[in-house]
Amino acid sequence: MGLVTNSRGLRTDTTIEGLPVSPSSAVHRRKWYNLLPLFVTLVVIAEIALLSRLDMAKNAAMVDTLADFFYGSSHEVAAVEDLAIDILSGGDQNAESESCEEWLEREDAVTYSRNFTKEPIKVDGGEQEQVSCSVGCKFGYDDGITPDATFGTRAGVARIRRSMESSMYYLENDIALAQRWTSFPKAKTCQCLKLITVSLCTRRGYNIVMTTSLSSHVPVGYFSWAEYDIMAPVQPKTESALAAAFISNCGAQNFRLQALEALENANIKLDSYGGCHRNRDERVDKVEALKRYKFSLSFENSNVEDYVTEKFFQSLVAGSVPVVIGAPNIQDFAPSPGSVLHIRELADVESVAKTMRLLAENPEAYNQSLRWKYEGPSDSFKALLDMAAVHSSCRLCIHLATTIIEKEEKSPGFKKRSCKCTRGSETVYHIYVRERGSFEMESIYLRSSHLTLEALNSAVVSKFTSLNHVPIWKSERPESIRGSNELKIYRIYPVGFTQKQALYTFRFKGDDDFRSHLESNPCAKFEVIFV
Ligand SMILES: *[C@@H]1O[C@H](CO)[C@@H](O)[C@H](O)[C@H]1NC(C)=O
Ligand SMILES: *[C@@H]1O[C@H](CO)[C@@H](O)[C@H](O)[C@H]1NC(C)=O
Repeated sequence: MGLVTNSRGLRTDTTIEGLPVSPSSAVHRRKWYNLLPLFVTLVVIAEIALLSRLDMAKNAAMVDTLADFFYGSSHEVAAVEDLAIDILSGGDQNAESESCEEWLEREDAVTYSRNFTKEPIKVDGGEQEQVSCSVGCKFGYDDGITPDATFGTRAGVARIRRSMESSMYYLENDIALAQRWTSFPKAKTCQCLKLITVSLCTRRGYNIVMTTSLSSHVPVGYFSWAEYDIMAPVQPKTESALAAAFISNCGAQNFRLQALEALENANIKLDSYGGCHRNRDERVDKVEALKRYKFSLSFENSNVEDYVTEKFFQSLVAGSVPVVIGAPNIQDFAPSPGSVLHIRELADVESVAKTMRLLAENPEAYNQSLRWKYEGPSDSFKALLDMAAVHSSCRLCIHLATTIIEKEEKSPGFKKRSCKCTRGSETVYHIYVRERGSFEMESIYLRSSHLTLEALNSAVVSKFTSLNHVPIWKSERPESIRGSNELKIYRIYPVGFTQKQALYTFRFKGDDDFRSHLESNPCAKFEVIFV
């Protein structure tokens, strides 16, 4: 787990063509006889390089030293280097000379002051002692080390709010509210307010928010491949009732109870196993029971964006089409288009009931809504669930470590990096890419003549292919939907963006937008989601 973001040994695999010939080379050639002694020296160096495969960095240093010896001026050294490159690369494609890529790799290499292998990210609290993670990561109270963040309170230490409850019940789970300071100095006032809502009394001002919201710093969802056998086969629908409901809490801050009644009034036969409108008295395994029904009512207790609980994922496991009341963006969680029915408001009950009846009477149409069970879910669904292949505690550590190195990069004393290299009319941009859920960055080089999103994608694929990279989610996803060994990109987005942006709202608006992002973000960092 090195902290030098540049890794040697991978030089030109992501570049598209050989070195461009500098247009100014003609000028150098006209005067070349002035440089005859140097020319001879360079030819010798080239041979040494070829024969003994000298490290390129050392080679470049030697050119500098010899040029200094002959001419002693840095201006001329630059011209001499240009000539050296012309000579070395001219004619012989295999001649070793320092390319922009190699130069950038050396120039931009940085060692951060904190080595996370030696000094792991430390978080006070949390259940795990040691988390398997691509960055050093430790949880728990011990050792007197000042933590990087805490689930409790500690002066001067970043505070984390982690909760999987809906922000409708727990106000401080709202990202904006969680980060704001609220304090009620008088315990009495607080006691009194507690009767209204618990959350008003909590001291907030959290620095990091971990909730079901995909806009939170580190989302914690109810979903993962490991927890649900999402691709479990569809079973015959043997129940006469159209849908099953498991709702135990009849009081909810949305209209789910009214909707239940409205569905019954619309002649949808329901079996209710929960405490609410109970009409089936057996004790059953919920998922096993759901498998026998064409539809399942996954009615959440609140309609909050991204708040999607096990009710929904269990319906998917069961192969019972979910009829949802809950997250307004539930279709973002659908395994494929047309696989989820959504009751947005009470007025929708009528039309949803009609769709349920139509599907129930038409086996082929019904089977279409479960097609993903046979053919696999959409890439968008896979990309969402894959997020959970990396434990939220590890994602928290990556978030913290990333914040630490970005702070260091912005500090005044930090090494000035070049981040781009111009030779002749061509500029090579140095960017960094890592897979979502991992910490270490890989260097990628893009040429100004091919500064397109397509070139970015193909450079990323060829870089990670050359590293024999295996996507993080590979062993987590059900075998039938792991895909081939070829890397396929779902999204590439700047590091620091939320999962909401990464998965749903952000796209570069074409090549110009991407180009201007690179111009305004030297050594830009990206995350890639493979699918
Ligand atoms: C960080 O520390 C580990 C373990 O001591 C070491 O192996 C590694 O080389 C160090 N990385 C850097 C970049 O110094
Ligand atoms: C549903 O469709 C799949 C293929 O998409 C097929 O294998 C399966 O037999 C169909 N089931 C029914 C009940 O028609």
